[in-house]
Amino acid sequence: MKTILDFAHKKVKKEKFSMVTCYDYGMAKIVAESKVDTILVGDSLAQVIHGFPNTLHATIEMMALHTAAVARGAGNKFIVADMPFMSTRKGLETAMNDVQKLMVAGAHAVKIENADGHAELIKHIVESGVPVMGHLGLTPQSIHQLGGPKIQGRSQSGAEKLMNDAFIMEQAGCFSIVLELIPTVLAGKVTEALKIPTIGIGAGVETDGQVLVLNDMLGMSPDFNPKFLKKFSQAHDNTLAALNLYASEVSDKSFPKPENGYE
Ligand code: KIV
Repeated sequence: MKTILDFAHKKVKKEKFSMVTCYDYGMAKIVAESKVDTILVGDSLAQVIHGFPNTLHATIEMMALHTAAVARGAGNKFIVADMPFMSTRKGLETAMNDVQKLMVAGAHAVKIENADGHAELIKHIVESGVPVMGHLGLTPQSIHQLGGPKIQGRSQSGAEKLMNDAFIMEQAGCFSIVLELIPTVLAGKVTEALKIPTIGIGAGVETDGQVLVLNDMLGMSPDFNPKFLKKFSQAHDNTLAALNLYASEVSDKSFPKPENGYE
C-alpha cells in the first residue's frame, strides 16, 4: 500500500491487509521486499529498541530519527509514525512542530492515541495535508491511567465509549484506526460501523487489517507470549544459535578458514 487511498480501497473491497512495526533501516529493507502492506514506526521502539519499560519514554527526537532510518529502507511502503507521549497535549504549536518533524523524516501519516480532546487537533492536522491514523482500546501512552495492559471495552459503558470515540476520530478525519486489545465482537461492531478501515492488534478476526510488533512476530521476545501473538519465526533461538556457533568456531579455530583470508 502506497497511499491512504489504498487503505480505503481495501475496506471497500473487503481485502484484509497487514502492518508491522519497524524501527531501523536494515529491517525496513526486508519489509520493503515482503508482501506486508504497510509500516508503523511505533513508539513501542522505546521498549523494543531502547529497553525502556513503556512507551512514555519515546521522544520526538527518537521518533524522527527512527522514522528517517525506516524511510531510507522502506521503498514505496506507506509509513505511519507515532506521535509520542504528550506531544498532542501541549498545545497546537508543539503538536504541529512534531507532526512536521515526523513528516519531514519520511512518514506519510501520523498516529494519535485516544479521541478525548483530540478532535480539533486531528481536524487541523488533516486540513494541513497530513493523514492521521487513530488508536483506541489499549492505548499504551495511558498505561498508568488504564491500570496496566488490560483488555479494554469489556463493560457496556467501555464498549459504548470506544464506539463513540471511533466515530469522533472518523468524523475528525482519521483515515484508519488501530484497535488494540479489545474483544473480538466489539472490534467487529466498530469495523462494521465505520467507513474507514480498522487495524487490530489483540482485537480478533473481524478488523480490516492486522498489526504486530515486528520483533514479537519474529519471535525475538521469548518472555512475551500474549494470547493474541503468533510468532512467525524463532528469531531469538536462531540468533542465539548463530552467535553460539560463531563463538565456538572462533574458539575451536574452525572459523575463519584459509579461504576467508586475503592473499
Ligand atoms: O507503538 C506500537 O507498536 C503500536 C502498535 C502496538 C499498534 O502502536
